[in-house]
Amino acid sequence: MFAKIAGTGSALPERVVDNFEIARNVDTSDEWIQSRTGVRTRHIAGEETAVSLAIDASKEAIKDAGISPEEIDLVIVSTVSAEQLLPCLACEVQAAVGADNAAAFDVNAACTGFITAYQIAVGQMKAGLAKTALIIGTECLSNIVDWTDRGTCILFGDGAGAAVLKADTTCETEILPMVLHADGRKGGVLTCGSGTGNGKSAYGRYVQMDGKEIYRFAVKEVPMVIKELLSLSGWEAGDVDYFVLHQANRRIIEAIAKRLHLDESRFPMNMMDNGNMSSASIPVLLDSMNKKGMLKPGTRLIIAGFGAGLTWGGTCLTW
Ligand code: UT7
Repeated sequence: MFAKIAGTGSALPERVVDNFEIARNVDTSDEWIQSRTGVRTRHIAGEETAVSLAIDASKEAIKDAGISPEEIDLVIVSTVSAEQLLPCLACEVQAAVGADNAAAFDVNAACTGFITAYQIAVGQMKAGLAKTALIIGTECLSNIVDWTDRGTCILFGDGAGAAVLKADTTCETEILPMVLHADGRKGGVLTCGSGTGNGKSAYGRYVQMDGKEIYRFAVKEVPMVIKELLSLSGWEAGDVDYFVLHQANRRIIEAIAKRLHLDESRFPMNMMDNGNMSSASIPVLLDSMNKKGMLKPGTRLIIAGFGAGLTWGGTCLTW
């Protein structure tokens, strides 16, 4: 049994906000933001919502996969920044795209969310419970960012990416290695309350982040996860065409490439144009690589994410 991505899609809000606009509201500069994060612009939702972006991305992925919505038996949405708590976004997507035969639920594993959704879907397939899954990472982080905090508001953007995943039951190859990790003891370094708890939550209404601590954590753990996946798969680093990482910060990705003694050109990036979109970063990047023709049958990828929780993990994938 082999699980493959059969189609991808993405949706970004129309409004583009550059660093100069941010610098009009907080004490920062285009030079500081670009040199410390790599980000030049990000899309910020106006009329769009986490749900509407998820639906648009999903419709594109379904079209790209060439399937009918009735074939989908599982819809999983990863998000931390939806406008609503209920109903879950996956149910809204299910209704909007007409995936009438699908189960639907959301997951929250922050920037590791898309990888978590992928791994749950593959697990359901391996258990014989699903054959075609629609997985989505969608974020309107502008909903939960404090626009007066220069330590966070410079980094994030809104968007959604989706993928249709198909099980090939005729294939004898086993599913490729996947790993997930968590360290809840360090959860305090990146927090956000729901805003619905009458002050009962230990966390503030907006994203609060110890950026330096997350930076250190990512640069230490992600190379280890990549090595873990290489060891489990038997692949050499040279066998991997691209390392598709969560787009947190350009310097984090450069440091990870350096630690692994790998050329940066094998680490595609999109944070320059989109900022850090948490669980949407990886699927939006996969979709742009797909549209550019970078992903051909047999292309080998290692995908890895890391973020709040703390959570981190990755997966080997053959296109
Ligand atoms: O998506 C997963 C979760 N998030 C992440 O992965 C984020 C990971 N962390 C980061 O990307 C970086 O830590 C940030 C981009 C958030 C911050 O960059 P940094 O290089 O770690 O900066 P810093 O917080 O250490 O601040 C360095 C200096 C400080 O000034 P002093 O104390 O050296 O005088 C800050 O006050 O830069 C100052 N600073 C700024 N200056 C201009 C902090 N933010 C800004 C700003 N503009 N926006």
